[in-house]
Amino acid sequence: MNQRKPFMAGNWKMNLNREESVALVTAIAEEAPDPERVDVLVAPPFTSIATVREAIGNKPIFLAAQNMHWESQGAYTGEVSPTMLLEVGCTHVILGHSERRSLFGETDGMIDRKANSACNFGLTPIVCIGESLEEREQERTSEVIAAQLQGSLRSFRRQKVLPPVVIVAYEPVWAIGTGKTATPEQAQEVHNQIRQWLAAQFDGNTAEKVRILYGGSVKPDNVKELMSMPDVDGALVGGASLKASSFLPILRFYL
Ligand code: PGA
Repeated sequence: MNQRKPFMAGNWKMNLNREESVALVTAIAEEAPDPERVDVLVAPPFTSIATVREAIGNKPIFLAAQNMHWESQGAYTGEVSPTMLLEVGCTHVILGHSERRSLFGETDGMIDRKANSACNFGLTPIVCIGESLEEREQERTSEVIAAQLQGSLRSFRRQKVLPPVVIVAYEPVWAIGTGKTATPEQAQEVHNQIRQWLAAQFDGNTAEKVRILYGGSVKPDNVKELMSMPDVDGALVGGASLKASSFLPILRFYL
């Protein structure tokens, strides 16, 4: 039995206004599982973060932004800094989501700078990686995953230390928002590869501690099977995190 506490994250993407955000987080907080058993996180759009923080009160729900800039301030029109996220109560930040990579041109190099900066400022990064359908069909999944890890965690590799609080999310692009989930075996195979990569680049202890989340069409009816895999430590949930009726059963996957 590993020591990693399951971590369940809801990525709201560009959805829900402030009122809807408060209603959702309040419903989650009321029924959320024992914090000793599962870590729960929500990632609202920037404009709702402060309101959601207030609604959370002292309930054990972590709060993330969906992106950030690596600098703490300056002439970066349209960007939000790590210190700004800390000020509104974020504990985590999602970095390098495939939508950021494919729609907004984010590169491994940018994600590396952001992840390193997040840790320096005391935010926990959730670093996303994942192959496209074409890459999977060409049997290039492990090569693509290794390259994304190399590039997105480059500064940590140079320092030869990865803070074990860092979270990695494996999200096969072909499974995001498509209703197609990776089978538990497909997820396990890649998660195991990620853990072996972490052990080789850093050390076995770090690799044992880092939580690796699966993302891509996670639903109440597939979460249990995915979570039964030894290297699947949690889920990064999009669509099904937008309603308490589908997110709560995911949080209580162990029942
Ligand atoms: P999905 O999104 O659960 O809607 O597939 C997952 C994600 O993009 O994080």
